[in-house]
Amino acid sequence: MSDDHTHVQEFFTARAADWDRRFPDDGPVYAAAVAELGLREGDRVLDAGCGTGRALPPLRAAVGPSGLVLGADLTPAMLREAARAGRDRDGALLLADVAALPLRSSSLDAVFAAGLIAHLPDPAGNLREIARVVRPGGVLALFHPIGRAALAARQGRAITPDDLRAEPNLRALLARSGWRMTSYVDEDARFLALAVHEG
Ligand SMILES: C[S@@+](CC[C@H](N)C(=O)[O-])C[C@H]1O[C@@H](n2cnc3c(N)ncnc32)[C@H](O)[C@@H]1O
Repeated sequence: MSDDHTHVQEFFTARAADWDRRFPDDGPVYAAAVAELGLREGDRVLDAGCGTGRALPPLRAAVGPSGLVLGADLTPAMLREAARAGRDRDGALLLADVAALPLRSSSLDAVFAAGLIAHLPDPAGNLREIARVVRPGGVLALFHPIGRAALAARQGRAITPDDLRAEPNLRALLARSGWRMTSYVDEDARFLALAVHEG
């Protein structure tokens, strides 16, 4: 386990029990973001960095009982909260690092990742690994239930031009990692970038 991972696990272990209580009104924005993935009945989808699994119910609703829903996270305490909330009924929970997913190449149609990329020590390498498990033409949603400016204000910091999720930076990062960005929205109530796996 690297220092980066230990830090991420400590950070989220401390917040796991209160995670859903801190953000009680986020359900509809998660459902709306999932809708933009354009999933179909029977599709196979991964929630990367699923945390307490808030996206798993809308993902299951989108792919139906014949689909496959997986939630992967590095922090056991977050997965325990997901199971406690019954979200393991909507998707199979995996204790896994997105740097090395225990999944076959091209085995998925889509990946949803909420609040994940800012925590990755090697975003390009990790986005390439996520691309590996998605079929060519499959889609990726990078979501956050708050925009960059509002998040920075909440955290008492300014956004700098080197911000990973600034549009030109993210477009270039995705292109280096096997993805073509197809849409980008950064407003106070949500951040959502969609990309297609170029294959
Ligand atoms: C900000 S939380 C978001 C959780 C959830 N997606 C949500 O929207 O409520 C980020 C999550 O990513 C997980 N995470 C961070 N780095 C990861 C990695 N390399 N592989 C898998 N999960 C990771 C953390 O453990 C944490 O649960």
